[in-house]
Amino acid sequence: MTLKDKRILLIVSGGIAAYKSLDLIRRLRERGTTVIPIMTAGAQQFVTPLAVGALSSGHVFTDLFSREDEQDVGHIRLARDCDLVLVAPATADLMAKMANGLADDLASTVLLATDRPVLVAPAMNPKMWAHAATRRNAGTLAGDGVRFVGPNAGEMAEGGEAGLGRMAEPLEIVAAIENLLDEGPKPLAGRRAIVTSGPTHEPIDPVRYIANRSSGRQGHAIAAALARLGADVTLVSGPVEIADPAGVRTIHVERAEEMLDGVLAALPADIAVMVAAVADWRVATAGGQKIKKKPGEAPPPLQLAENPDILKTIGHHAQRPKLVVGFAAETQEVEANAREKLKRKGADLIVANDVSPKTGIMGGSRNSVSIVSKDGVDAWPDLDKNEVAARLAALIAERLGP
Ligand SMILES: Cc1cc2nc3c(=O)[nH]c(=O)nc-3n(C[C@H](O)[C@H](O)[C@H](O)COP(=O)(O)O)c2cc1C
Repeated sequence: MTLKDKRILLIVSGGIAAYKSLDLIRRLRERGTTVIPIMTAGAQQFVTPLAVGALSSGHVFTDLFSREDEQDVGHIRLARDCDLVLVAPATADLMAKMANGLADDLASTVLLATDRPVLVAPAMNPKMWAHAATRRNAGTLAGDGVRFVGPNAGEMAEGGEAGLGRMAEPLEIVAAIENLLDEGPKPLAGRRAIVTSGPTHEPIDPVRYIANRSSGRQGHAIAAALARLGADVTLVSGPVEIADPAGVRTIHVERAEEMLDGVLAALPADIAVMVAAVADWRVATAGGQKIKKKPGEAPPPLQLAENPDILKTIGHHAQRPKLVVGFAAETQEVEANAREKLKRKGADLIVANDVSPKTGIMGGSRNSVSIVSKDGVDAWPDLDKNEVAARLAALIAERLGP
């Protein structure tokens, strides 16, 4: 999907995240997209029309009752003469107006008059996002066919507050636009998916940890592939060096226990693909202070405790997703171990791969997998991890059916 020559009507409303819409304009324009900006009165308290106009290289629309812009009922033209209407940031206020069909300024009037797809990127304080009124409005908008990107979890601009409410990053918004305008088949539209990816880091003390060689490449590629087929994807990622995938809500965690919490918080879902190389054990005695090396003393013993089994928990959960897929990274008896894992973990599919050092799979860009289900084993050829992801997403869509 390319955004070249697309026309995006960008509505900027009045939140702190309005500054991010400046970068968003730049990201869209470097892809050859025309950006037509509308700013609410609130937005102009945060960024100036001059800055928005300079970056978009065009006129910035701000007034409904503008003698200049409304000579040919300009708001109707604006509402229709674009490929997509994007609201970023979307305030709680503007979402409330949209949900109720209010049209008392240029932005809300255009949103009511448009027949184009509408994508909103909410940004607000977590308490505002969690408020029953905003929940109701978001539900109404989703029911009206409005699409959402974000909000993400994280630190707020207001000191000491964190939670769900940060605007999606500009590149996530760009990816969401690409997904929305992509006319390819969307067999997973309306489905929710949870994917885990990467390693976990299990602390020994505040500076040392136990980890493994997982890069997150396969899990991230699967999250992106499911999103391309229209799924609403939450990716729970351990510490990795690669970027968050496009069009996906990414939650960053460190330890296995945090990963399980992230997965459970993302339920209910239709699909779970547990790709992360979760550490089987954590250090039971992990302390708050760095363990000191003392002359003449033996190395400290490390007492291990078993970590939660995330795949098994999901496979047997009361809200078990319809399709549960696990990964079996083995170094010997790959298929036999995968068959055993299928049963024990309550999974529908196990993607088995041989991660012996000679294969270069762990941390590499290619993968050679076998798909194990109760129907048998299907050995796929050696493929790029993105290709494995695309095939697996297609298989998931086929298994779930319409
Ligand atoms: C400093 C400051 C920051 C604000 N940040 C947000 C925000 O991030 N999200 C939000 O929904 N409202 C925020 N508000 C409140 C909106 O600006 C207010 O509801 C305004 O009426 C929104 O107008 P608009 O939706 O027409 O742009 C903030 C207000 C102030 C004074």
